[in-house]
Amino acid sequence: MLKGNTGEYIAARKKELNAVIMAHYYQPPEIQDIADFVGDSLQLARQAAESSAEVIICCGVKFMAESAKILSPDKIVILPCPDAGCPMADMATASELRKKKEQYPDAIVVTYVNTSAEVKAESDICCTSSNALKVVRSIPEDKEIIFVPDKNLGRYIQTQTGRKMILWDGYCPVHDRLTADDLNKQRKLHPQALTTVHPECQPEITARADAVRSTAGLLEYIKGSPAQEFILGTETGFVYTLNKHCPDKKVYLAYNDFICPDMKFITLENLALSMQNMETQIEVDSQVSIKAREALERMLNIS
Ligand code: 13P
Ligand code: SF4
Repeated sequence: MLKGNTGEYIAARKKELNAVIMAHYYQPPEIQDIADFVGDSLQLARQAAESSAEVIICCGVKFMAESAKILSPDKIVILPCPDAGCPMADMATASELRKKKEQYPDAIVVTYVNTSAEVKAESDICCTSSNALKVVRSIPEDKEIIFVPDKNLGRYIQTQTGRKMILWDGYCPVHDRLTADDLNKQRKLHPQALTTVHPECQPEITARADAVRSTAGLLEYIKGSPAQEFILGTETGFVYTLNKHCPDKKVYLAYNDFICPDMKFITLENLALSMQNMETQIEVDSQVSIKAREALERMLNIS
């Protein structure tokens, strides 16, 4: 049990460890507030690659902490709650991907960062939702592409690039749940609002949206837009981020409980305990890490 003020303990321990606390936009408000850096998957990966801290505390889900470890193998990377995973990442395994590659031996494998280190290691290049279009456009037209694992993001890229890809059958259960009916209800309630969604939503949603962006992209879009009201097709933690950065704008979640449970596992208390006990440290097999790093670095080099 920690005694005294948890926030003060975290600040003092952070100094002692020369640590940096990174948080994703879907994290609870108190975690976003205590973090040194809050961002989308791409920004978190960049921060991890560039940070001079000795310890990276990753407040997000496992694939984010693994990416940080792969990009900064000499640093200690801590995921405060080891159970925080991503159900979409669990929808692709390295052995399934190897089988798919045997079926299409000349294809380039583009892998969304929401995957395990082992799946990244089987891939040619990674992408996040903020750079997926750029990554796919960087691949020569005559090359087939296997896109893993998000079929919704994959379909969105197909509509934007006109490029046919071999899609995996994965999806984010949180974003995929948003239906056109939910969206229509919100649009009737808020006829002035623009519709802004994450590309993990289904094609019938992205096709109806005014803006389809990663979380960081949506923040930039909403901040810069002259509109005052927005229907938001992404996770509820991001409403807090938006209220903080643009308090004058009104945002309405596209459905009521738009929640990623895994993103809510981290609390101030288990964050403090994880810093006290230096748990859970993320480790990635060195051979897997070398290959996965190549795929991540190819992505970082083009975006
Ligand atoms: P972003 O890269 O847009 O932050 O998305 C990560 C994610 O897990 C979305 O569900
Ligand atoms: Fe994974 Fe979806 Fe949660 Fe993002 S919101 S971490 S894709 S389950």
